[in-house]
Amino acid sequence: MDRIQFDFNNMTAAMVGAHGFTAEEIAAADGMMAKALSALQTKPLGFRKLPFGRQDVTDDIIETARKIRSGFNTFVVLGIGGSALGPIAVEQALADGKGGMRLIVEDNVDPERLARVFRSLDLKKTVFNVITKSGRTSETMAQMMYAADALKKAGLSLKEHVIATTDEKNGELVKIAEREGLKSFVIPSDVGGRFSELTPVGLLPAAVCGHDIKAMLEGAKHMDAVCSRETGNPAAFFALLHVLGMKKGFNISVMLPYADSLKYMSDWYAQLWAESLGKRYGADGGEVFAGQTPVKALGVTDQHSQIQLYTEGPFDKIVTFLKVEKFREDLEIPAALEYIDEIAFLGGKTFGQLLEAERSATEYALCKAGRPNLTISLSEVNAFTVGALLYFFEMATAYAGEMLQINAFDQPGVEEGKVATFALMGKAGFEAKKAELDKRPAKDPALIME
Ligand code: PA5
Repeated sequence: MDRIQFDFNNMTAAMVGAHGFTAEEIAAADGMMAKALSALQTKPLGFRKLPFGRQDVTDDIIETARKIRSGFNTFVVLGIGGSALGPIAVEQALADGKGGMRLIVEDNVDPERLARVFRSLDLKKTVFNVITKSGRTSETMAQMMYAADALKKAGLSLKEHVIATTDEKNGELVKIAEREGLKSFVIPSDVGGRFSELTPVGLLPAAVCGHDIKAMLEGAKHMDAVCSRETGNPAAFFALLHVLGMKKGFNISVMLPYADSLKYMSDWYAQLWAESLGKRYGADGGEVFAGQTPVKALGVTDQHSQIQLYTEGPFDKIVTFLKVEKFREDLEIPAALEYIDEIAFLGGKTFGQLLEAERSATEYALCKAGRPNLTISLSEVNAFTVGALLYFFEMATAYAGEMLQINAFDQPGVEEGKVATFALMGKAGFEAKKAELDKRPAKDPALIME
């Protein structure tokens, strides 16, 4: 049976000593926990409706995906941030490498990368999915303009080759979609970018790649029940320990999956945790400068790069292991090169066993060094557990926002950068912002060296 388990033992003082949490510290935060639990019972959060979402939308996604799969071989997502990281994470988690649809997520405007990608495309066999909640992000609009031009030059129609995923009313993409008669999907107005993976933002690319989106939604539904509990609620407890940690100087949250399939879950989590909790102002309007820096890591790769810092550096990190109990495929290490006794112990074991031994050994090393850590175990990586895991982190983020008393659902810092880009690129209506930018202090040439 599909299962996700949360093991918080190594967060306690009993396991890691002075830098862990005592039962008294946790009990003293009872009030904060109760307040957050009650707030999330009543707040109408858009992303929480998604697992119970509209059957007609899910059916439309599945039918559109079927048509794409029968006529095309490449699906290119043009989007960034919350409009890209979910599709990347889910594809990495669920792809079995056995062919089918090629998914490319273009989440940058690096011209070298874009040129290389477009050179590799057979446009006749390609569908572009332009994804933008605001419908106006410069990066995505520029990519769309490039794709539209390339299609036109190849004598192909946008209607056949472009799908829009955006807000129902706002932004430029909805206008382009109307004018060109594009197939469109709606991102609900009450769901923010980084919480939108279970909308058509994530579900369409996943369905096009042949993944079971109904199972993803079932996983999220299951996790909604788990994360709504009054007691024994892992999302609320994850949030509580991290928020208490922040107060003790644990300013870094390391996401450390021991499975390549979950590698980009760390990237997705990094945006969710950073953009939601990194806030200057609290709910009461006062300055709080809240947040915790997410670090993306991968087991076993980073064991040979970052773990030295985690075990012996500053006491400022909480490490979350992602563990997989059963790999969908495992390989035996053959008892080869038998003339070297020192490597004989590996022969006959599996790579899955080796990876888990490495994870368990790192967990032990962290505990021995007094470093708080926790483990989230997935019985297997599949559509159900991936949907559940995504939803778990969304709930944990919402709880942490409540506990920190900040708005976890806005991103004024990101907007500032977007608006400054408009100004620098000469968009009409942003002249005042351009004037503000022009007043930046001049740089000291002595501090620019060659
Ligand atoms: O979470 C967010 O709101 C942001 O990170 C957005 O996802 C990102 O800026 C892209 O915005 P949009 O989807 O409007 O193009």
